[in-house]
Amino acid sequence: MMNILFVASEIYPLIKTGGLADVAGALPVALRKKGHDVRLLMPAYFGILDKVAPIQNQINLGNPFNVGDLILLETQIIENGTPIWLLQCKSLFEREGGPYLDTSGLDFEDNHIRFAALSWAAAVLASHGNLMGWQADILHINDWQAGLSAAYLKSWKMNHIPIVTTVHNLRYNGSFPLKKWHDIRLSNELLSHHGIEFYGQFSTLKAALVYADAITTVSPTYAKEILTEEYGDGLDGTLRAHQHKLYGILNGVDYDQWSPTADSEIPHKYDITSLNQKQENKLALLKENQLDEDLSQPIFGVVSRLTEQKGLDLVLEAMPSALDQGAKLILLGSGDKELEQDFLALQERYPQQVGIHIGYDESYSHRLQAGVDALLIPSRFEPCGLTQLYALKYGTLPVVRKTGGLADTVFEEGADPNGFVFEQADTPSLIEAMSRCIETYHDSNTWQERQKNAMRYDFSWEKTTDHWITLYESLIK
Ligand code: ADP
Ligand code: GLC
Repeated sequence: MMNILFVASEIYPLIKTGGLADVAGALPVALRKKGHDVRLLMPAYFGILDKVAPIQNQINLGNPFNVGDLILLETQIIENGTPIWLLQCKSLFEREGGPYLDTSGLDFEDNHIRFAALSWAAAVLASHGNLMGWQADILHINDWQAGLSAAYLKSWKMNHIPIVTTVHNLRYNGSFPLKKWHDIRLSNELLSHHGIEFYGQFSTLKAALVYADAITTVSPTYAKEILTEEYGDGLDGTLRAHQHKLYGILNGVDYDQWSPTADSEIPHKYDITSLNQKQENKLALLKENQLDEDLSQPIFGVVSRLTEQKGLDLVLEAMPSALDQGAKLILLGSGDKELEQDFLALQERYPQQVGIHIGYDESYSHRLQAGVDALLIPSRFEPCGLTQLYALKYGTLPVVRKTGGLADTVFEEGADPNGFVFEQADTPSLIEAMSRCIETYHDSNTWQERQKNAMRYDFSWEKTTDHWITLYESLIK
């Protein structure tokens, strides 16, 4: 039995902007089911205290950043009983906007201090277990937001607790100008090329890579890709230097949340033997979007952050050729303003066939997964990707670019094809893959075969937790 402190900046069901929250909400629960005492640490963002159990204990960590006291509140996630420490600091976390961006979509000016505070709290908790009556055996930090914990432990010379860093996305490297360096209370010693310095800035993710005992990323293919210049986002050199401690462990799915047999958000539940019920979900989704209710052509779906990573500009270019054949598109997403406008313009051009919902809507994302035939994920890079894993369970066939976790989970060839795969991140390749998808849709036996294959794949956390346990154990020994 190990004690694991798991630190993340977003955790479902408390707060979520993307896949990190899903992972941080599910992996700790899966590890706890195997008997390990995993406890969470996250900031007490505005409104979070209303979503957790009553506070059981609290401790004041003082005012190391001169922005007000940092207070750790001990409570539990109501839905699954997981213990969580919420880091309270009014001036840093109690404000309007998302976890990282203000209401107009800009990074908070003081993000380096906000997440230095989170990292500081993680380092204190990990190294001074007596404070809260619980000593971690492992500190597991996620992404740039928690990265500085490794640096604090290093600089306090308390780096005997094994640290695991998980990289969910190398693109977000937590880099800040050097003029902000003195705000985070680290000694200049760490600011070298072999340390935290990053092209004339400092990077909190680099700190997490350099000072961790193990680095994991969320799929085996991405673990290889990030060693190359093309996918390394400037950190490939650092990663190559630390390659001996780099592992790719595929994410899992919480099938209690994401399964058409259990999903309380979808109008008609179904399983592999009742795929006709999927038709009902399709019709309901078309109605909800006030689209033409003809099911003779496939409905393509997208659930995504609208960013360069996701390659959705290719969908804008490829879609008209499919729409002209009668296919449909239903999209849920938000992010890049230009992409938002372009998708709304596509809807105006094809009002009977295109339904666009700009925004973030957890419940609708489930109805969409259940109610479309194929999910488009033409990512330029994809560390793991969870939406394709959810799609598979709903008998919704993913159309993906062969990269990162998409390459590890979606197959068009081989014994059990479960989707459609293309190699190059360009419009002709996407159009071809969509054409193969449309053609297969019209061959209903092959289509159903593929749907059933898709639904049979098992990407549950239960299958991957053993990899985590083995890794943690190897570090403790
Ligand atoms: P990423 O973390 O890069 O955004 P993932 O595929 O790993 O990509 O995870 C995305 C998660 O966020 C999924 O749970 C997906 O359903 C959800 N999601 C993305 N965009 C939206 C949205 N606009 N509304 C609701 N959920 C969304
Ligand atoms: C990141 C990646 C995504 C991954 C998720 C969870 O946001 O972009 O590919 O699935 O983290 O690990």
